[in-house]
Amino acid sequence: MDAAPIIAARGVSKAFQVDGRVVQALRDISMYANEREFVTLIGPSGCGKSTMLNLIAGLLEPDEGEIAFRGNARARRLGRISYMPQRDMLLPWRRLLDNILLGPEIMRRDRRAARQRALELLPLFGLEGFEDSYPFELSGGMRQRAALLRTLLCEQEVVLLDEPLGALDALTRRTMRDWLIEIWERFQQTMIFVTHDVDEAVLLSDRIYVFSPRPGHIIRELEIPLPRPRSEAMIIDPAFLGARDAILAELGLDHG
Ligand SMILES: Nc1ncnc2c1ncn2[C@@H]1O[C@H](COP(=O)(O)OP(=O)(O)O)[C@@H](O)[C@H]1O
Ligand SMILES: [Mg+2]
Repeated sequence: MDAAPIIAARGVSKAFQVDGRVVQALRDISMYANEREFVTLIGPSGCGKSTMLNLIAGLLEPDEGEIAFRGNARARRLGRISYMPQRDMLLPWRRLLDNILLGPEIMRRDRRAARQRALELLPLFGLEGFEDSYPFELSGGMRQRAALLRTLLCEQEVVLLDEPLGALDALTRRTMRDWLIEIWERFQQTMIFVTHDVDEAVLLSDRIYVFSPRPGHIIRELEIPLPRPRSEAMIIDPAFLGARDAILAELGLDHG
């Protein structure tokens, strides 16, 4: 493994001005992700998880601290990182395949090669036969899978996923979780993943950062010692249960 992490944040703080008031979103965040690592940020709603991804992506600049890309805090990050924001952001007037190709298009990837790859991957994403459908014709799960395929097709070294399963009901989420494990093992990019679902975090991650309520800061870092490939069956493994209980306790959710 490379010595320098691919992403490293040091002492990052961020505040917003809202109606003349200062809202401190993040306080003194230090975190990193190694090459090909699956790192999850978990914490209560409003603790600054999406803000952290916006900072890592280079869409926002920190008030204090810095974020280094491959050891270089001055490196441009915008455009070198694929980002699936919290809302699926499919364009309603574009057909499915054109929506998927929007990612590579913006990244100025070769359109024909991207189209070829997208067509190859449609079955794996459960979207075969829906190339010409508009977003409103698709289920929530299909829209999210399309947004995810678009994000992964950008083929950046780092992928940021903000609650990609968030809008789904529990049953669809479970199926999607298994599927996401398979996808990640196949693409092998560095993933920085945001969720508020503890089971999902433990099952997918190599390492987890637990955030406090706002202003978000890191209250715990955990390695997940489960072997790979992962599977849903591991939810009864003592390592899974230990990590889950530790996170629930940090989040104050251990009483029910
Ligand atoms: N662009 C913004 N302008 C003003 N306030 C913001 C902005 N983005 C986030 N916030 C505020 O920062 C805090 C953290 O938000 P967010 O990062 O979306 O949290 P999370 O993703 O963990 O739910 C919230 O109080 C939110 O209202
Ligand atoms: Mg969020």
